[in-house]
Amino acid sequence: MTTIKQHLDNASDILAHHSLSPRLDAEVLLAFVLGKNRSYLRTWDDKQLELKSLELFAELVEKRREGVPIAYLTGQREFWSRDFKVSPAVLIPRPETELLIELCLDSLSSSQKYAVLDLGTGSGAIAITLAAERPLVEMTALDKSFDALEIAKDNAVRHNCQHIEFVLSDWLSALSTDVTFDFILSNPPYIAQDDVHLSQGDVRFEPMSALVAEDNGLGDIKRIANDAKKHLRPGGQLWFEHGYNQAQETQEILKALNYKNIKTYFDLSDQPRVTMGFI
Ligand SMILES: C[S@@+](CC[C@H](N)C(=O)[O-])C[C@H]1O[C@@H](n2cnc3c(N)ncnc32)[C@H](O)[C@@H]1O
Repeated sequence: MTTIKQHLDNASDILAHHSLSPRLDAEVLLAFVLGKNRSYLRTWDDKQLELKSLELFAELVEKRREGVPIAYLTGQREFWSRDFKVSPAVLIPRPETELLIELCLDSLSSSQKYAVLDLGTGSGAIAITLAAERPLVEMTALDKSFDALEIAKDNAVRHNCQHIEFVLSDWLSALSTDVTFDFILSNPPYIAQDDVHLSQGDVRFEPMSALVAEDNGLGDIKRIANDAKKHLRPGGQLWFEHGYNQAQETQEILKALNYKNIKTYFDLSDQPRVTMGFI
């Protein structure tokens, strides 16, 4: 009979040419199938698997071999130490986006009330993390994808953030002009339509509407920067995550619209990743 260790070895071999982390992928998938953590697999590596678990594991390994992201197979991804439900309707939250969280937490005092809008909330990772870390924040989370908002609402319940207001809208178009915020944040689609990376790795399985923007990737940043002006309170701040090569253009977009004190911040890989300005 085959043991956990042997199943993991086989799966790692199958994934060897299809993943950058075949052993880790195999362990994450088997741990998910068994409802255990990865250390269980090491402790019990001579244990045998039930047929039902074996079949599900084989199915998931095959999907992974075809390229399906691990997060879509397990239905979750960790972000800022919380597990977020994900599905192919939402972008898989990225570690780079934690920079935006870190910077916003520095700007949002925990003893003050703010109105904050997360544009293009997807799984809700940004809105829910900030709402959970700063309970006084009045958070609005907006997306044009109904399916994404359903996932974000589930995540809000999961993380006890039912006070977040969810809005279905094409950027700010559904908000009346008297609805204003202290902070507007967005990790919008910013990849150019012809970017070669779109045909590689996990992004092949993510929604194009979450990834791609017109105008060489800058179309949504331009539109949001323009429309956000009507919805920012005096002294309000607009924050963008953008591509590693879009800092200068994002700064120029904000300057042309008279945003002030514009700054760009670098991520852990030393790439310019977040740009902000004050109204
Ligand atoms: C890059 S994803 C960001 C998801 C999430 N905020 C995160 O950081 O993981 C961009 C999101 O913007 C949404 N989006 C794209 N175009 C939009 C539009 N015109 N109006 C509102 N949301 C839009 C997509 O549905 C997607 O959820």
